[in-house]
Amino acid sequence: MTRYDAVEASAYRVAREISFEGLAAWREAVEPYLRPGRVVLDLGAGTGLFVRAFAQWFPEVSVVAVEPSADMRAASGMPMLTGDAAAIPLPDASVDVVWMSTVVHHVRDLPAAGRELRRVLRPGGVVVLRSLFRERHDGIGLFRFFPEAVRGMSGFPTVAEVADGLGFAVARLEPVGQVTAPSLADKASTVRREADTLLRSLSVQEFEAGRERLVAAASVETGPVVDHLDLLVLDAG
Ligand SMILES: C[S@@+](CC[C@H](N)C(=O)[O-])C[C@H]1O[C@@H](n2cnc3c(N)ncnc32)[C@H](O)[C@@H]1O
Repeated sequence: MTRYDAVEASAYRVAREISFEGLAAWREAVEPYLRPGRVVLDLGAGTGLFVRAFAQWFPEVSVVAVEPSADMRAASGMPMLTGDAAAIPLPDASVDVVWMSTVVHHVRDLPAAGRELRRVLRPGGVVVLRSLFRERHDGIGLFRFFPEAVRGMSGFPTVAEVADGLGFAVARLEPVGQVTAPSLADKASTVRREADTLLRSLSVQEFEAGRERLVAAASVETGPVVDHLDLLVLDAG
């Protein structure tokens, strides 16, 4: 069962989607893999943020979206295939790149997913992940206001657990910045407990206390909110 129901799907669009401008460093980071003519599978495409971003940034790439949650598919407003990491509805050797953005911590059976990734990838293909990993979460500013949310990191895999579990080799690992919101005030107005795996681990009281800290900081800090997630590129080794 996926944890993204109708409420969360609409909250996700409000709280989690980032502007294309805010993702400029991600555009640069993934550009070497999204070459003209390549076929990219956006696995766990959610509300389609990266389907739209890739269509704008890399118009000569074909993107196929697969998403298990009917509500996320509906909220995306675009055609998406029903499936998940353990059952990808695509033929053998049909994609050059599998893109997984903030998805891998939801995948329970990594070896089964690894077998599916190997099956759908063409020889020389890569898996490109944008994610948080348990041992690498210093780049997330939310913890400043919601320190208890660090508890939620225990549910995230490490880089080694992902690579070993999927049965792939680490080809590249580095933090990439993103402008998560234009200001703390904007973040305070859009933050949703139900839209984020980490915030969902908070009690209502913890969430409200954190939101008050966020609102207080927003009255004095006016700059953009910058966070870092990791780019992890895996190949067959
Ligand atoms: C945090 S959202 C990320 C959505 C999108 N990739 C993005 O970056 O905006 C996580 C998504 O992964 C999907 N998901 C959950 N379990 C999955 C699985 N086992 N395989 C593929 N996708 C999964 C959820 O339904 C949800 O849409």
